[in-house]
Amino acid sequence: MKPIGVYVHWPFCRSKCPYCDFNSHVRATIDEARWRAAYRREIDHWKARLGERVVTSIFFGGGTPSLMDPRSAAAILERIAEVWRVTDDIEITLEANPNSAEADRFRDFRTAGINRVSIGVQALDDSALRFLGRAHNADEARGAIAAAAKYFERFSFDLIYALPGQDRAAWRRELDEALSLAGEHLSLYQLTIEDGTRFAQLHARGELVMPDDETSAALFDLTQERMARVAMPAYEISNHAHAGGACRHNLLYWRYGSYLGIGPGAHGRLDRDGRRWSTRNARAPETWLAAVERDGHGSIEETPIAPRDAAREALLMGLRLDAGIDPASFGEATGVALEDALDQTAIGRLVADGFVQRRADGGISATASGRRVLNAVIAAIAA
Ligand SMILES: C[S@@+](CC[C@H](N)C(=O)[O-])C[C@H]1O[C@@H](n2cnc3c(N)ncnc32)[C@H](O)[C@@H]1O
Ligand code: SF4
Repeated sequence: MKPIGVYVHWPFCRSKCPYCDFNSHVRATIDEARWRAAYRREIDHWKARLGERVVTSIFFGGGTPSLMDPRSAAAILERIAEVWRVTDDIEITLEANPNSAEADRFRDFRTAGINRVSIGVQALDDSALRFLGRAHNADEARGAIAAAAKYFERFSFDLIYALPGQDRAAWRRELDEALSLAGEHLSLYQLTIEDGTRFAQLHARGELVMPDDETSAALFDLTQERMARVAMPAYEISNHAHAGGACRHNLLYWRYGSYLGIGPGAHGRLDRDGRRWSTRNARAPETWLAAVERDGHGSIEETPIAPRDAAREALLMGLRLDAGIDPASFGEATGVALEDALDQTAIGRLVADGFVQRRADGGISATASGRRVLNAVIAAIAA
């Protein structure tokens, strides 16, 4: 039986960060018992549709799932374990914001069954945190990291770099402090301007000036060098881990495995009746809630994916990984042999130019230069 991961989206936040285009919303109050019941009902819906499955990872993402009552997380986990088989070494991650109120509940989340947290630290500098519109300061972030280290064997935190005005020296200092606090995993994202955000408005008006390409590239290179030196190389474009410390749930996405999405706006990729399906839920929180209470699920799309499209998606995901694509799992997940999914002329050229390399098992991976221009590489190689 092929394993699946379960993604649970919690769409609420204390405040909306000006750079963020995730499905996150601020609400004065919510009726949490109602929400909890809806997540459990949607799990039952998928049990009826998917039948027996083995769950190897669960990821509570957001939004800010650490704002949940830990009893809600426990109730959702309990339902998953009642309807499917969960493996003994299952990875259960919760995205947490580093406000002290949330860090104070880490122990309760551990008791609820969470065994890994990913903390949205974003910066270890108060002025950068103010610029990013965050509701925490650097000391709270340090406290949350210490609490994570105390209660969880596995934890990670996120930083955003390449902020306006940030130079190499400032980023090196921040990264060094991060490394002194880190566990097995760090996610390091360059700030991107996403459509529809407050930062996009400011950027369009010339009131937010992003680092130029040369500075961004220098900061990226510094990151790669520094992280390789401490044996935490990038296993994916923005994700770094010591050996064995990669996030197994996220690896499932990048390896084009099967996962179920629960909650507002969640999407999934599932195997059912010998085909691969794309699923998507209603995005607005109250629309999803009303749909689950009415129909038992908030799904608004469930479409089969043609093998060609699956192959393209799997290339897009797999080339993000440092290890690249294993031909056997590619064929199994997409129904298309890797060689048939590739434009052989383009591959030859990209290998010669140093953007792509062949693996010993006949798979492919993008080189460091290739990952920097990944969209162009994928556009060129997909047959
Ligand atoms: C779903 S979000 C956040 C989870 C949590 N609510 C938080 O803010 O800490 C996951 C991560 O994506 C990153 N991120 C979100 N928007 C970004 C942007 N525009 N540029 C760079 N990184 C971004 C942040 O590091 C964030 O922690
Ligand atoms: S970055 Fe995190 S806390 Fe901020 S609005 Fe987005 S999901 Fe919410």
